Amino acid sequence: MLSDLSHYPVMVNEVVSFLKPKDNNIYLDGTFGQGGYSKIILESSKCKVLAVDRDNESEYYAEKIKKKYGSRFFFIKDKLSNLEVLLKKRKINSLDGIVLDLGISNTQLNNPVRGFSFSNDGPLDMRMDSENIKLTAEIIINEYDEKELSNIFFYYGEERNSKRIAKSIVSYRKKHKINSTKILSDIISKINNNKFKHPATRVFQALRIFINEELNELEKILELSLKILNKNSRIVVVAFHSLEDRIIKNFFKKNSVLQINSLNNSNQYCDLKIITKKPVIPTKDEVKINPRSKSAKLRVAEKQ
Ligand SMILES: C[S@@+](CC[C@H](N)C(=O)[O-])C[C@H]1O[C@@H](n2cnc3c(N)ncnc32)[C@H](O)[C@@H]1O
Repeated sequence: MLSDLSHYPVMVNEVVSFLKPKDNNIYLDGTFGQGGYSKIILESSKCKVLAVDRDNESEYYAEKIKKKYGSRFFFIKDKLSNLEVLLKKRKINSLDGIVLDLGISNTQLNNPVRGFSFSNDGPLDMRMDSENIKLTAEIIINEYDEKELSNIFFYYGEERNSKRIAKSIVSYRKKHKINSTKILSDIISKINNNKFKHPATRVFQALRIFINEELNELEKILELSLKILNKNSRIVVVAFHSLEDRIIKNFFKKNSVLQINSLNNSNQYCDLKIITKKPVIPTKDEVKINPRSKSAKLRVAEKQ
């Protein structure tokens, strides 16, 4: 078992073997975290890595990597939906590969102050970037109406008891403020009873996705990848829940069908070739060492 404080990158060998980094090429690690993917990409060839993460804490890990790899590595603290502008500013017109490891890291999850965890008591926060995101879980839980709450739990957490949980939250908050992860988790646990998952898993996931607009961010970077990837370059994405995985699967599918060039009917093309017909999942050994990897699904497509 790994320490709760470190982030162990998921399917790191699989990521590199699909990406196939080459000398002098430039790759985007769009969800840098502690830099597990960036490090292995930089080690596997004399390429460059542009790393992006919206979380302040990543800057600390990025500095360490910068010291070792110098000008081959550069880090930008920002969100992926700003990438097009960021690339333009740096006069980068195209990339030779993209890796994305979605969601949050162990470090974010297990730090109670960040409010992502139902297992450690902390403030109801859940922002990946507290400088630029104003909406917290506490605001949502205490101020949104019952219908809005149940919609968030249902659409972003696929929570079957969304209506009952929303009702219970609204009733509780009439008497007391809900201002900690423990209070929220206890309210949900009185309604949900799941043998395999913590009862609050889906509601916490829903709040996190909603606050950080994670699905919108994913859609934007997928769309941009069609514009910025060089021919025969790959996008490798690791997802941890079905909402994300569905978006990736459908995006790859939609862009891998033959299209007719409207200017020239005979000229048929498709934007992507799907490399992984089925998602790649971690080995049993990896799941044993790193239980967080259990729900991971890796998909790869190649720009045509
Ligand atoms: C699962 S962790 C990645 C861990 C990383 N592969 C490693 O080895 O340490 C996901 C990271 O992506 C960042 N992130 C998620 N969505 C983002 C977005 N839209 N823009 C920028 N960073 C994002 C999170 O802050 C988090 O640090």
